[in-house]
Amino acid sequence: MNNKIIIINGPNLNLLGEREQSQYGSMTFDKLKEMCKKKSQELKLEVVFAQSNVEGELVNIIQDSRNNSDGMIINAAAFTHTSVAIRDALNIYKKPIIELHISNIYKREEFRQKSLISDIVTGGIFGLGTDGYILAIISMQKLLGNEN
Ligand code: DQA
Repeated sequence: MNNKIIIINGPNLNLLGEREQSQYGSMTFDKLKEMCKKKSQELKLEVVFAQSNVEGELVNIIQDSRNNSDGMIINAAAFTHTSVAIRDALNIYKKPIIELHISNIYKREEFRQKSLISDIVTGGIFGLGTDGYILAIISMQKLLGNEN
């Protein structure tokens, strides 16, 4: 059976391609989703791609995925810097988690330089644009011992 991963996206990432292109590039959210699905298929991973602008919904998605996924890639977007609830939900998820940011949060405003989740995830990727999603999928495949 193929491993199953979930890629979770937080607020405003649905507007990729439209919002702050200087930070996030020109790729649309739909194109990103398509690219992630293609890469996952290539690596024989099943993938679920989720997005919500609502904190509680993200907590529900994280909780629900604990029993039906093997690994998680999460760009919690602005909630990275504010949400104890998302941190707590991630702490309950006892499988590999990769934190992802399109931009380099450590080169930006001070309030973005603090992540409430970095110290509880397996590893992180930031500042490499939307390519970071592809790199995260490759790393997740290795973390799951799924190299072909
Ligand atoms: C982001 C960085 C966050 O600070 C910001 O609020 C986002 C996107 C990133 O991918 O670079 O919405 O997580």
